[in-house]
Amino acid sequence: MLSLKDPSLLGPYAAAPNQTGAVSGHFTVFNPATAAAIADVADLDVTRVRDKIDAAYVARPDWSARTADERCALMLRWSRLMRDNIEDLSVILTAEMGKPLAEARSEIEYATSYIDWFAEEGRRIYGDIIPAHEKTKRIFVLKQPVGVAALITPWNFPSAMIARKAAPAMAAGCSVVARPSEMTPLSALAMCVLAERAGIPSGVLSVVPSTDAAGIGAEFCSNTKVRKLSFTGSTRIGSLLMRQAAGDIKKLSLELGGNAPFVVFDDADLDKAVAGALLAKFRNAGQTCVCANRIYVQKGVYDAFAEKLSQAIAKFNVGDGMSHDTQIGPLISPAALLKVEEHIQDAVRNGATIRQGGRRHPGGGQYFEPTVLTGVSDEMKVAREETFGPVAPLFAFDTVEEVIERSNDTEFGLAAYFYTQDLGRAWRVAEALDVGMVGVNTAAISTAQAPFGGIKQSGIGREGSKYGINEYLELKYVCMET
Ligand code: SIN
Repeated sequence: MLSLKDPSLLGPYAAAPNQTGAVSGHFTVFNPATAAAIADVADLDVTRVRDKIDAAYVARPDWSARTADERCALMLRWSRLMRDNIEDLSVILTAEMGKPLAEARSEIEYATSYIDWFAEEGRRIYGDIIPAHEKTKRIFVLKQPVGVAALITPWNFPSAMIARKAAPAMAAGCSVVARPSEMTPLSALAMCVLAERAGIPSGVLSVVPSTDAAGIGAEFCSNTKVRKLSFTGSTRIGSLLMRQAAGDIKKLSLELGGNAPFVVFDDADLDKAVAGALLAKFRNAGQTCVCANRIYVQKGVYDAFAEKLSQAIAKFNVGDGMSHDTQIGPLISPAALLKVEEHIQDAVRNGATIRQGGRRHPGGGQYFEPTVLTGVSDEMKVAREETFGPVAPLFAFDTVEEVIERSNDTEFGLAAYFYTQDLGRAWRVAEALDVGMVGVNTAAISTAQAPFGGIKQSGIGREGSKYGINEYLELKYVCMET
């Protein structure tokens, strides 16, 4: 059960667990830290989701006809209400997802930063006037909202990913139907309640909780009233949605898997590099798509880096995110725990050494000890697949050319990080890495101001920044005879 100052934040689709008849046709949301049921949530089927798409379609003309100033004011009121309710929103987020309260709080702030940014950016959707090809003609370019946008968001950032997609869509004048992960629907439902309280008109933002991921995905892709689909999740599902959306030629944004290299050169400030690795690898217990998955350390500093990193992670408090001193929460599911174990076993079987951690945490449940592996090689699963857990595999390398080649030797291209004090090398390596985002001497790269997204099988399109709003706009060129 959740203890909230304002229980009505969960809205009409959620109720305390086991209240007979409170929500019909429901599924239960569990706390990954305790396995306790925290809420029963209405399980919307495709027909009810179609109704929400219809409502979004009806709401869109009025919403897009409003001035950007009006949309901006309503959206800023929404983000202010989120900040006013940050304690409850953080408790909801930690209870359903497991991340420590401090991280949950930062996520709510991060979510509101996208709403604030795009609320303002909506006022700067400028068109163009183009010098025409004939004396009597005038050419201008309008930017118009794409239409109804369907969003599918993941469990690892239950508030921020809704905000990062819904905010640019709404600022552009689109209406939105969002399906959050069935593991973490409560944060999205609470955001929707607050949007309504802020005065955002009915139908402009609908959240559709459902366990029918395949059915809702197929509906989003085939429903001709939906003109845009934005998805964050695995490359496998992104590729499936892309194929399904092809039938209706929908505009797509896909934010998919990553396998980020994190490179420490001999000349790096090692303490900074360790601090960066702690963030890039262990934020959200290693469950972010921009997580450092492969940590390459140049041979001259390999042992020193391994020692410093191992010492630092040995101090992490692992436990229930609700306790104020917790730094690493549980993994999201038993399957996530098994994957982490499988990756470690595969590495050890093939010659790696567990330098720190390596086991389920004595706290039981879905907790895993923060882990450092040394002596890892490129054939192991930790090098080829996203571990999505608190495991730092350290690969040794000799030269700049070698580490660039190994970093790029993956079908993914989301983020990369590296540490060096050589300015020339910083430019050259940043340019040579095949990714959408690079952190140079920093691991804190995510921000509303910058374009978030990947290349290769890590996705299509960008979220955040001045580029992010274009994903929800169409260009219309007008040629006028004067
Ligand atoms: C993600 O893991 O999908 C998002 C991470 C971030 O925004 O930093």
